[in-house]
Amino acid sequence: MNLAKFFEKAFNTLIRASVDKKSDARNVVVSISDGEYPSSRIMVLREVNVEDKSFTFFSDSNSEKCKLIGMNPRGSLTVWDRKNNLQIRIRGQFVFDPDIVRYWNRLGDLAKKSYGNQPFPSMPILDRWEYDNKPEISSFTVLKFLANKFDILSLNKEKHFRAVYESRDSWKGCWVVP
Ligand SMILES: Cc1cc2nc3c(=O)[nH]c(=O)nc-3n(C[C@H](O)[C@H](O)[C@H](O)COP(=O)(O)O)c2cc1C
Repeated sequence: MNLAKFFEKAFNTLIRASVDKKSDARNVVVSISDGEYPSSRIMVLREVNVEDKSFTFFSDSNSEKCKLIGMNPRGSLTVWDRKNNLQIRIRGQFVFDPDIVRYWNRLGDLAKKSYGNQPFPSMPILDRWEYDNKPEISSFTVLKFLANKFDILSLNKEKHFRAVYESRDSWKGCWVVP
């Protein structure tokens, strides 16, 4: 296994996750900052672009995370793929994708219900069902995560191995101690 092949393996795992509903790696831990503390939540990986090393997520545009990303777009993704014994940690920045219509039109009615809760997500309510759902495109956001660094760890019975890849090194990568 060389550095380029290891990077390719991680990308193939991520691409698979974006299309395979049963993949572990599909539910990504997305971390940002709330200004004081790290703030993490799970999000479904929707799309992977190998060319620009970007990762697409969907969210409610009125959610807390969108507010936080507006203030500080830096974040990280953490993925664990049990099948391949691979941990993938990715650092980068979020951007709001303006091209939401084509994604919205591809969603079924059930999927659209994940967006448009009222009052907005994170608002306090008097009882657990005291909210409505009005799925509208205005409540839908597409977040694109542009990676600048990958830290990939492979767990093995014999010996683990790990490598770091950075955009500033043209992604050539470097083995590091696991
Ligand atoms: C398996 C799973 C998948 C989830 N996928 C998403 C998702 O794709 N987008 C999203 O906004 N929230 C998703 N959530 C909910 C978030 O983890 C989080 O609870 C919610 O978005 C509110 O986060 P916020 O207050 O940071 O905005 C998912 C939760 C779970 C348990």
